[in-house]
Amino acid sequence: MPNASAEAFAPATVANLGVGFDILGLALREPGDRVRVEHRDQPGAVITDIEGDGGKLPRDPEKNTACIAANSVLKTLGVSSGVAITLHKHLPLASGLGSSAASAVAAAVAVNALFGEPLTRPELLPACLDGEAAVSGYHADNVGPSLLGGITLITGTSSDQIHNLPVPEGVYLALVTPDVAVPTAEARAVLPKMVNLHDMVAQTGAVARLVDAIYRADVRGLATVMEQDCIIEPARAHLMPKLIEVREAAKRAGALGLVISGAGPTLCAVCDDEKVSELVAAAMKNVYDMVGVQSTARHTRIAVKGAQVLRVNDRESP
Ligand code: HSE
Repeated sequence: MPNASAEAFAPATVANLGVGFDILGLALREPGDRVRVEHRDQPGAVITDIEGDGGKLPRDPEKNTACIAANSVLKTLGVSSGVAITLHKHLPLASGLGSSAASAVAAAVAVNALFGEPLTRPELLPACLDGEAAVSGYHADNVGPSLLGGITLITGTSSDQIHNLPVPEGVYLALVTPDVAVPTAEARAVLPKMVNLHDMVAQTGAVARLVDAIYRADVRGLATVMEQDCIIEPARAHLMPKLIEVREAAKRAGALGLVISGAGPTLCAVCDDEKVSELVAAAMKNVYDMVGVQSTARHTRIAVKGAQVLRVNDRESP
């Protein structure tokens, strides 16, 4: 017998970590999306309400990332009933913070909780990927860390190809999201189809050094090497307003490095102190303020835990 309703949270994510295009990502403590699902006797997932998207997200169950993920879990569970979804968006859309992934993950985790959590988190991965694929392609560098937490190395799309790396103490992140939408598809269309051997060697070396720095909890080292992306950032830089100026301002305020978060336009600075990360966030926002671009700045940390069930109401609960 399913529960009456369930609610789950899934965190925003920073994909790529500079040099690790499509293969590295991390979960943030905040922000994140919340999804509440209510059991209904009719089959399939439908949207009851979406808050916080400014009316921009599709309500059509076949196009909505949360609905697609929910339907995928229902199908895996082989149940004939359905769910009504309320999505509370706390992530800006098309911002490089894994917005579609967070909604898909929160929906999958909530539906699983509704039915008593029969599936493990790794078993929910395919459903989350189904939801993510509808919006930004079948890749797991946002879905993986949002679902599983921490820093993840993604070498494929099955759960045994997603590897949790250690989370170093002492990493503080400052993020700024200018009010310009950069759809992932557009940011992928500008990437080179071919990479020369020299760049391939430099990039793979940088990824290896980044993973080594993560294992040694070398925050300065990881921030430095994250910035050494010689393939993706140069191709995308023109889509990120004031990238150079924001990087300079972040460093003047004490940041150790700055990268594009996912496909952008959010920029993510790495710091080794909380107070510094607060100052860096303000300094980054100030660059946009000076040129009249609206932006949102945050400072946060890496979330060791991924998506979480917030509450489950059984049929007897009010
Ligand atoms: N790794 C992806 C990209 C972003 O940079 O295009 C994840 O949505």
